[in-house]
Amino acid sequence: MTKRVAILLSGGGSNMLKLVESMTGDHPARPVLVASNDPGAGGLARAAALGLATAAVDHRPHGKDRAAFEAALSRHLDAAAPDIVCLAGFMRVLTEGFVRKWEGKMLNIHPSLLPKYKGLHTHARALEAGDAEHGCTVHEVTPALDDGPILGQARVPVLKDDTPDTLAARVLTQEHILYPRVLRRFAQGHRDPVFLDTSVR
Ligand code: GRF
Repeated sequence: MTKRVAILLSGGGSNMLKLVESMTGDHPARPVLVASNDPGAGGLARAAALGLATAAVDHRPHGKDRAAFEAALSRHLDAAAPDIVCLAGFMRVLTEGFVRKWEGKMLNIHPSLLPKYKGLHTHARALEAGDAEHGCTVHEVTPALDDGPILGQARVPVLKDDTPDTLAARVLTQEHILYPRVLRRFAQGHRDPVFLDTSVR
């Protein structure tokens, strides 16, 4: 049975594009909705250009009332009835209630080798720490931020002249490989983690 995938984003949607592009042929999943908390998110326009169903739920009118924002978002999500929800550059912290509703079905990609560098500014923090390697992690979403079971990781070397931007670009390239790889396995019922190691030196 083809799994229905909803993708939540806040920005340009490069990860969303790679996920959508991967769901073809014998892939066990298909995209059914791309939604964002920002009506101006570039990823929404890119998804609409591909003919995908989209939804924009502006979080700003709801102020600090996260539950109200999530209730509005859930009306679109529930209508799409996804089997899997992929957070792909979705920058809103979700309440425990929302996460519990989708627990076991919701994935996120985080630009660090979790459990290192939960939260923001991960590339700058890795450079600051003098790490020799960095990377990205796909994990199941649980109520604790950036903390759920790891489903995949990709590692990249940190180069001596790296800036946060050059390092982020190298990691993003791996995100685009890792997330589709993990989604396909997840849709097939696999929960054992995938580890990618680029020997880019
Ligand atoms: C990626 O760096 C991802 O790790 C982080 O947000 C960014 C999403 O970029 N969560 P995009 O919107 O998929 O291009």
